[in-house]
Amino acid sequence: MSQKQLIETAYAMVADDKGLLAMDESMPTCHKRFAKLGIPETEEYRRAYRELLVTTPGLNESISGAILFDETIRQKTQEGTPFVQVLQEAGIIPGIKVDKSTKPLAGHPGEKITEGLDGLRERLEEYVQLGARFAKWRAVITIGEGIPSQGCLEANAHLLARYAALCQEAGLVPIVEPEVLMDGAHSLQRCYDVTEQTLRMVFAQLAAQRVLLEGMILKPNMVVPGLECPKQNSVDDVADATVTCFRRTVPAAVPGVAFLSGGQSSELASERLNAMNVKYKSRVPWALAYSFARAIQQPGMSIWAGDPANVETAQKSIAHRAKCNRDARRGEYSSAMEEASA
Ligand code: 13P
Repeated sequence: MSQKQLIETAYAMVADDKGLLAMDESMPTCHKRFAKLGIPETEEYRRAYRELLVTTPGLNESISGAILFDETIRQKTQEGTPFVQVLQEAGIIPGIKVDKSTKPLAGHPGEKITEGLDGLRERLEEYVQLGARFAKWRAVITIGEGIPSQGCLEANAHLLARYAALCQEAGLVPIVEPEVLMDGAHSLQRCYDVTEQTLRMVFAQLAAQRVLLEGMILKPNMVVPGLECPKQNSVDDVADATVTCFRRTVPAAVPGVAFLSGGQSSELASERLNAMNVKYKSRVPWALAYSFARAIQQPGMSIWAGDPANVETAQKSIAHRAKCNRDARRGEYSSAMEEASA
C-alpha cells in the first residue's frame, strides 16, 4: 500500500464536514447497554441492532466511515448482504476495532493497559481482505490520586504507536485513540494537564515508530471537567481548553482530530464540537471532527429497545444525531435543531 493511498483514506475519513460512527462495542460493552434497556443479550439482537445502524437512510450524508467490531465485520443483513457491502454501497468507509480491550496494568493499581498486539499483523491482513480500510485502538488513561503514572502513559503510548505502524504496513489508516476518562471529580485544568502530557507522549512514540502522521487520525477526548466535578465549565471554556491543548501537542501534518464522546450527553457533545468549529475551524491545521458511539447511537438505541416495530423511528434518531454533528463541524448546530426534531 502506498503512502498516497493511506493519506487519501485519512483525508476521506474527515472530508465534507462528515465524521465517523463508532459501532465497534465489544460484546460485554454492547450487552451492558442492551441490559439497561431490557434488550436480550444474544448474537441475533446484536446483529439486528447493527443492521439497523448500517441501513439507516441518509446515514452517508453525515457519516464518512463506520468502525466495526470483529463479529460485526463478518455479519450480514437479514436479506444476506454483508454489512461491509451495505456500507461500501453507501460510500461509507468500513473500519475495524483491532485492540482486545483493556486489562489492569500490573504494578499500577487503578490503571489500565490495552491488549492485542500479539498476532496483530496477521489479523490486520484478514481485516483488509474483509474490506476494512482503517482500524482503531483505544488506550485508557484514568485520572485519580497520583495517577496517571509515567509508566502507564509510556506503556499505552508505546502500544498505540506499535499498533499504528503495523496498520500502515498493512495499508490501514490507524485511528490512534488515547482516551483520558471523564470519571472523577477532577477539574477542567487537571484534564487539560493529563491530556497534554498524554498527547506529548503519544506523538513522541509515533515518531519513534516512524508512523506517517499524514496517514493517521487522532481520536482524543475533549478537555472537560470530571463528571463529578462541582464546577462544570461553559461550552466555550471546554472549546478553548481543548483547542489550546491540541495546538500545543498535535502536529499540523495530522489530517483530523475525531473526538470520542466519552459519556457526554448527545446534545453537549454536539454543542462543544460546534463551539470549537465556530471559533477555531479556520485557524487550526486539522479537521475538528467526530467519531462518536454513544453521542450518536444512544437515543436511537433507547427508541429501538429491541422491538422491530421501532426500527424506523430509531433510524431517524441516528440520522438526526449524525446530522447534528455534521452541522457542528460547520459551526451551524443549534439546540433549536433538537426541538425541531422532537
Ligand atoms: P464514545 O463516543 O461512546 O465515547 O465511544 C467512542 C469510542 O469508539 C470508544 O472507543
